[in-house]
Amino acid sequence: MASLQSSCKVLNTPRHHTSPSSKSFTAKPSHLLTHPNRTHRLQVSCNNNEKQTPEGKLDRRNMLLGLGGLYGASSLASNPANSAPIAAPEFDKCSEARDVATGDLLDVNCCPPYSDTIIDYKLPRFNKLRVRPAAHKVTKEYLAKFEEAIRRMKALDKSDPTDPRGFMQQANIHCAYCNGAHDQVGHANLDIQVHNSWLFFPFHRWYLYFYERILGELIDDPTFVLPFWNWDNPKGMQMPKIFDNTNSPLYNTNRNQANRPPAIIDLGFSGATDDLQKVVNNLTVMYSEMVRSVNSTLDFMGQPYLDGDSPSPGMGSSERGSHIAAHVFVGDPRNKYSEDMGNFYSAGRDTIFYSHHANVDRMWSIWKTLKTDVPKEINNPDYLNASFLFYDEKKQLVRVKVADSLDHRKMGYEFEKVDIPWLNYKPSKKAAKTKIRKIPSDAKKAEELFPLTLNNVVRVLVNKSAKGKADEVLVLENIETDTTKFIKFDVFLNDEDDKADELDRAEYAGTFAQVPHKTKDKKGRSTINLKLTDLYEDIDVADDDTVVVTIIPRSNGGDVTIGGIKIIPSPTKSA
Ligand code: C2O
Repeated sequence: MASLQSSCKVLNTPRHHTSPSSKSFTAKPSHLLTHPNRTHRLQVSCNNNEKQTPEGKLDRRNMLLGLGGLYGASSLASNPANSAPIAAPEFDKCSEARDVATGDLLDVNCCPPYSDTIIDYKLPRFNKLRVRPAAHKVTKEYLAKFEEAIRRMKALDKSDPTDPRGFMQQANIHCAYCNGAHDQVGHANLDIQVHNSWLFFPFHRWYLYFYERILGELIDDPTFVLPFWNWDNPKGMQMPKIFDNTNSPLYNTNRNQANRPPAIIDLGFSGATDDLQKVVNNLTVMYSEMVRSVNSTLDFMGQPYLDGDSPSPGMGSSERGSHIAAHVFVGDPRNKYSEDMGNFYSAGRDTIFYSHHANVDRMWSIWKTLKTDVPKEINNPDYLNASFLFYDEKKQLVRVKVADSLDHRKMGYEFEKVDIPWLNYKPSKKAAKTKIRKIPSDAKKAEELFPLTLNNVVRVLVNKSAKGKADEVLVLENIETDTTKFIKFDVFLNDEDDKADELDRAEYAGTFAQVPHKTKDKKGRSTINLKLTDLYEDIDVADDDTVVVTIIPRSNGGDVTIGGIKIIPSPTKSA
């Protein structure tokens, strides 16, 4: 690889670039397989003193292939030789916000105030960690402080609407980073989008970090911390009551009225009507997205997103699972775009957003402590060096890096210790081996069914790559979606019972979901891997070489096509 770098350069070139000369060739990155609308391509250009025999070119090409990213079968990882991290946006080039789903112009200017001084942010040294409390357990004194801080933040909207610390200004940060107001530096036709990729956790961690410091500054209490909405624990599975007091500055009318307390959140969109079933489904979803279905670092963190990439390469299991579910649960169906929580541009206008994301952030921190065989860090410099801009509590514009957000303790906080009841929430093993012939008999072979549109429940026979309890993943590939829609479906294996609203069963393999987001042609393309190893333990597959996969559409199945389905040996786990 070193010799490759010294002799050849890989360039990101616009699509209208002249055709490859004899001294370069065009390499097709694996992204193109899933993002045909990508607006640039890679070129490898080599020094003139290189001998340019056809064989030589072939060799280099092979070297590139060997790097793993290009043409990589299931990996979306990028070629380290060509890449650059997503750079912090240029605020002076901020443009209008659009609805992420339809591309319609939104009636909002969410561009931040401009400043020509940018400070590279250094984390202060924190001698004592502040403890973010669970929102359902906060004390009166704490609540009074929190309310006062939010009151003052909202007051800034009136007294100085250009103060970047004001409530609307803070909400608009989310809008600008999510609704196409910021272009990637040097790519006027590519948005910066902090969702649907590996930037999801680090961006939101930084966002909350400054939000919290600003609140602390406004009440002159540097020890102030945000509360987290503990939706992964049965005691926190309602909207926290502190947000539902109509006399509180934490209250927001733009919420789904049917889901105000005591309604229980349905993290799996299972449609269960029974509260107890909802709770066990939620615990199952948590265990699945944190442990059971996660085969690799990127399965959890989200897919690589580099400079020059089309936005939204793919969500990790947590983002597409519990994270989306809480947005949808709170968003108000009476509003055109499900404002506030149901749409990126407006989500930050709901005070509950920051507590929701404090728990998302907590999930990232918990995941890192899990003793699973999946590596917990991404060592790719194009992840670590990605950067964002925020205004700090002193109204200074600062540039932060992903690398400085990896350990929340270094950012001065930790989380109140509460039970983590999903931690071992394994479905009970099937007592008896599933009889494939007992499964409803409409199961067909994959070749006969795929590609398919997910209008109905689908049952498909899929060959395993090896007999018995092999270390395998289920791949649903070339999933094409209408990106203007909310999409969700669940996947089960060897499910003879067919109780669609009960997720707490050994057969539940995982979930695909998508929130509406913008792409040029309103089409999303992705592939998901679901780890099967634990599931094989729980349903006896010892002698089988075929399993039955059941796919249950939960939302807008008619807007999904799935290109193919297969079971393969577990691919590499690290990023
Ligand atoms: Cu940035 Cu939960 O959205």
